[in-house]
Amino acid sequence: MRQAGRYLPEYRETRAKAGGFLDLCYTPALAAEVTLQPIRRYGFDAAILFADILLVPDAMGQSVRFAEGEGPLLDPIRSAKDFACLSPAATRPKFERVFETVQRLRQDLPDETALIGFCGAPWTVATYMIEGRGSKDQAAARLFAYRDPEGFQKLIDLLVETSIEYLSGQVRAGADVLQIFDTWAGSLPDDQFEKWVIAPTQRIVEAIHERHKGVPVIGFPRGAQGSALWYVAETGVDGIGCDTATPPYMMAEAFEGEKVVVQGNLDPLLLVAGGEPLEARVGEILELMEGKPFIFNLGHGIVPETPPEHVADLVRWVRQGSRA
Ligand code: CP3
Repeated sequence: MRQAGRYLPEYRETRAKAGGFLDLCYTPALAAEVTLQPIRRYGFDAAILFADILLVPDAMGQSVRFAEGEGPLLDPIRSAKDFACLSPAATRPKFERVFETVQRLRQDLPDETALIGFCGAPWTVATYMIEGRGSKDQAAARLFAYRDPEGFQKLIDLLVETSIEYLSGQVRAGADVLQIFDTWAGSLPDDQFEKWVIAPTQRIVEAIHERHKGVPVIGFPRGAQGSALWYVAETGVDGIGCDTATPPYMMAEAFEGEKVVVQGNLDPLLLVAGGEPLEARVGEILELMEGKPFIFNLGHGIVPETPPEHVADLVRWVRQGSRA
């Protein structure tokens, strides 16, 4: 997760050339280049498209800025009338640039390297649209949903519709697998989780399955805890990304025989620490997952402080330890 990024000197160089982070995302030659950098260095089995979950609101017309050291900033949506002007139709020119990146990648990647396309889940994207930035508790979005559930449903519907077109365009351009990132799924009580996490995700998964037979969709309901089981059962995802606190072997056992692939879940901070504790933990995860349908991954995004050589160690240890 975040295999491309600031921990790599070659990424920092390309990013400086691009100017802003969004310029990097929307320039196919550069976005493809940073996607390929970690593949060249480490030979991962899968590449993830270089883009961001906030390209969706940006392309719909709610402009997004990435301020140095501050993360994303948007003009916050205060009421339903603030998003009346956003439209799925407006997304075309910007989405086309992302699709071009996917096309280039499918050409440049080795045939055996899977290409993962992605989007943010409607709930998580809505939290940024309403807060205008990242937040600890997603309070503004949760309050919006309680105070104006109909207005909030309209925003979610807009995101469902746009995300289906966005993901579908990525598949047509050459993505082999799709992932839906629901980073803030863990902030909702069960009734709200059902409405804003499960239902919209289920609609996206169903549409993708209908349009693109055989393209697997992986869900990542970060922080969902016990509700992650419910999420897998109801949304129809083909794979479940486990965050650092969700044991992959419990997930695999719960869905034994149901063709659900489990992905996860090394702590990104252990990858910063490196050395013997990292090697031991990799061995432990592989041992627990032996014989189960499993994709080795991190439990959340790689952090900029990660020494690139620790990632090389990780890949070596995973390859030695797994008997694929
Ligand atoms: O390599 C990859 O994994 C593909 C690219 C990717 C990025 N963002 C690039 C990025 C992916 C899959 C994402 C997903 C994403 N973006 C999520 C969901 C996954 C998660 O981490 O929970 C979220 C919540 C975002 C929103 C976002 N984008 C934030 C909060 C930030 C700031 C964080 C930071 O570290 O500064 C970003 C910026 C961002 N997206 C960077 C990268 C490589 C760092 C930007 C930089 O170069 O300065």
